[in-house]
Amino acid sequence: MKQIQIPGKNFPIFVYDTYEEASLAAAEFVAAEIKKKPDFLLGLATGSTPVGLYRALIEKNKKGEIDFSEVKTYNLDEYYPISPRNEQSFLSFMKENLFDHINLKPENVHIPCGEAPDPNLEAEHYEKELLAIGGVDLQVLGIGSDGHIGFNEPDDAFILPTHLVTLTEQTISDNARFFPSKKDVPTHALTMGIGAIMRAKKCILIANGKNKARAIREALLENPSPANQASILQFHRDVTFFLDHDAASEILSFLQDAVADPV
Ligand code: GLP
Repeated sequence: MKQIQIPGKNFPIFVYDTYEEASLAAAEFVAAEIKKKPDFLLGLATGSTPVGLYRALIEKNKKGEIDFSEVKTYNLDEYYPISPRNEQSFLSFMKENLFDHINLKPENVHIPCGEAPDPNLEAEHYEKELLAIGGVDLQVLGIGSDGHIGFNEPDDAFILPTHLVTLTEQTISDNARFFPSKKDVPTHALTMGIGAIMRAKKCILIANGKNKARAIREALLENPSPANQASILQFHRDVTFFLDHDAASEILSFLQDAVADPV
């Protein structure tokens, strides 16, 4: 592992040789936070990235190192429309990859409902729940290849509340691997907005693979812009990045060039 620093930016960035190492380090970080506060409010993400983290948390829970009995979870997003019982729903994903294997109470799980009759009302309802808690203790984030966090897609603004979003062509293609075919990917989703993500007391973002290198460079190096929604995290009060070498590659070459060619 090496810790890197971007000149002028004060958030910690940890770079690991492998995805497994990055996931284990993120799990140590999350576990240490949960140990400090039994009724922890934990914001969760879906996608393939956090699966390694979830695997490690399951292990720690089984060994008795962390206890989820009083923890409350808040997921970032859910497809719309989708039945929560559909195996491609984010709720099913969370059950399969985390919830069914830890001592978390089902009533402590929060996720937008993909089959609510009115998506805008459901968004309002979820936002009320998020406002009532005043911000999760820790938000786990992945990143889309277009820089999205949750399902906050590239836009000309940062949308603060939970809202219904039209998925981009890129995201539909990226996520088609979880569905029988691309045409089965829902075209919309309900997502926590940038407001709730920024209200989180801490955030961690995990990224691995070359296909994330550009989004990571834009998010961490360039001036924050809604064209890369993750770039708003530069303004977060406590954010830590766990990257594998591939996801960090464009930042690493920027830093090398900066050293080789000091101005
Ligand atoms: C998903 C989620 C995001 C996730 C991103 C990347 O669809 N809405 O929360 O970070 O896309 O997914 P993956 O980790 O599979 O690359």
